[in-house]
Order: sequence, then structure tokens, then C-alpha cells
Amino acid sequence: MTEPQPFGTLADGSPVTKYTIAADGGAELRVLDLGATVQSLRGFELGAEGGRGPNVVLGFPDANEYLARPCGYHGAIVGRYANRIADGRFALDGVDHVVAPNEGPHCLHGGPGGFHSRLWEVTSLQDSSLTFELVSPDGDQGFPGRLTTSVTYTVTPDGVGIEISAHADASTVVNLTNHSYFNLAGEGAGSVDGHFLSVEADSYLPVDSDLIPLGELAGVPGTPFDLTRPTLIGRAVRDPHEQVTLAHGIDHCFVLREQGMRRAARLLHPESGRLLEVFTDQPALQVYTGNFLDGSRVGTSGRNYRQGDGVALETQGFPDAPNRPSFPTSVLRPGSTYNSYTSWRLDLLGSRH
Ligand code: GLA
Repeated sequence: MTEPQPFGTLADGSPVTKYTIAADGGAELRVLDLGATVQSLRGFELGAEGGRGPNVVLGFPDANEYLARPCGYHGAIVGRYANRIADGRFALDGVDHVVAPNEGPHCLHGGPGGFHSRLWEVTSLQDSSLTFELVSPDGDQGFPGRLTTSVTYTVTPDGVGIEISAHADASTVVNLTNHSYFNLAGEGAGSVDGHFLSVEADSYLPVDSDLIPLGELAGVPGTPFDLTRPTLIGRAVRDPHEQVTLAHGIDHCFVLREQGMRRAARLLHPESGRLLEVFTDQPALQVYTGNFLDGSRVGTSGRNYRQGDGVALETQGFPDAPNRPSFPTSVLRPGSTYNSYTSWRLDLLGSRH
């Protein structure tokens, strides 16, 4: 087992630790207790010079970089409510709740002190798996109920599993996901315009100029959101469709076909043949093409991240569901458990490692 490594100290003096888990003949994942963050993922070219091929997720070399602005939530578990809650308010069982705004009036990814910024406790560490726990008190960022969340990362010969569960002592709303940005050419290699993306969705949620869902589902046929076949990301994000221009690319919730564990997306880097497949039991996938990466932040290997240098494939419930009775519910009741399972399958096209 690789020993945990110090990964810098936060402004309040708290040390941050980096953990490495790996599967024999499989991927290696480096994870931080800060935000339960995936800092590095290698595993496409097993046996390649230097180990497992390039690191394919965007990240930073020091803990404080993860908290610097603009915050891109790189690799973190975001919550309590991934994505947006309009105007930072919702009603639950007839009671109004006001949650902390951090994007104009809206609450994004759980508010300014969201789960990405917390130090999670390690409750289990093995060679190929790691479990973090975070207790969020009643009223944290304005959310009702004390919420206990655990995240287990497991590395297998095929890829990575991410299991998230949560329970609360009072009724609340919850939506949790991992916010990794992928670049299958390697972190810092430039734009993902030349990657092919496909998403198992026949509809998506159009948004307003604040990226809040309008409420209706729209069909993907005939739009740049039709990713039912492998599509060049560079082509989709340059489409003149109004929904693309107002989001500066794709930053939309895709409504996944079917239910239960199924494939949600495939991302292919044709030059190398690296193929990432995302499987999930969640109803939706937020596809975010790194539209707000503005070149001001320097990543793990010393190169800065510009617009489109990574794509996030965030498996989750619907945005703003606490305000939208027609969306699948985000309510978690005491005595029930929130569960989400996502896996990333790594493959080299034409060969099975
Ligand atoms: C999510 C949102 C984006 C953006 C990123 C973080 O993916 O949908 O609009 O806020 O997080 O930069």
C-alpha cells in the first residue's frame, strides 16, 4: 500500500492528505480528504513507460489551489445539492428554506461552503478502496437536517467505482456527484474539442441565461444536444444554437434513458484510442464542457486550464428539483438512505487491458 502523503495546509492550519489506491493490473487513483477530491487518475496504458499512462483528470498540485477562485470544483464531491437551486430558496413540507447563494442569487453545488471545501474523514483505507465520511450539521449552508454522507472510491482492473450514500435526521433535499473533468489526451494537454462524446439521452433541460432549467424537457433530435451518436465536442460547442451560446458551450442536464445501472456516456480520444465509459444509476448527467475555465489557474503539471480543456460528466438528479414538482424528487426522508453509484470504465479501443 502507498503511504498517505501530505498535500499542503489550509489557511486555518488544517493539513490536507493525499491517498493513493490502485488495483493490480488496473487503475491508480489519487484522492484528497479535502472535498473527497479525485486529484489524479491513471490507468489507460497499463504497463506503459512511467506506469499507467497519463493522468486524465484536471487538478492541482496543492490543497489551497482547490479553494482558490474561480472555483471549478475540480474532481470534488459536490453537495449538499449538486447543480443549481434557483434563487437559493425552496419549500419543503410547507416550510421555506433559504440556502447560501454563491452564483448571483442562486445556490450552486451546495453554496460557498459546500462539500468540496470540507475535510472529509477517512473511515476505511485499503489497497484498492477508500471511504470518506462527512457530517453536515442541521442548517449547514441553510439546508435542513443533519446529513451524514459517505463516499467510497474503489479501483478495479476495469476502472473506478464511486458509491455515495447519505442519511439525514430530518427531511431534506440532496443531490451529490463527483465533479471530475476529463481530458483523455492527458491533463494539461489542451482542448478536448477533438474528443468524441456520446450520451444516452433523448432529451435535455433547456436553461435560462443563469443556467436555471426552464422546467420543460426538450428533445435532442436536430440540435447540438443530440449526442446519441459519437459527436466531436468541438463541433457541438461551436453550434449557433441559442442554448449553446447562452451557456458558452454545453452546460446542461441530459435526461438519461431507462433506469437502474446503465451506460450514461462514452468519451473517446481517437488519437490514443482511450475510451471512458460512464455508468450510473442516476436519472441525469450534467455535461459541462469547461466553459468557465479561463486560463487563470495552473494545473497539476504546470499548464493552465483554458476554456474547453476538460469535460465534466456529472451523474446526478435534476437541477433545481426542490422547486420543480415535475422533476424526480430530491427529497430524503429520515429513515431512508440516498444512494448513488457511478463507475468509470477505462478501455483502450481495440484492446482489452
Ligand atoms: C457545474 C455547473 C457549471 C459550473 C461548474 C463549475 O458543472 O453546471 O455551470 O458552475 O459546475 O465551474
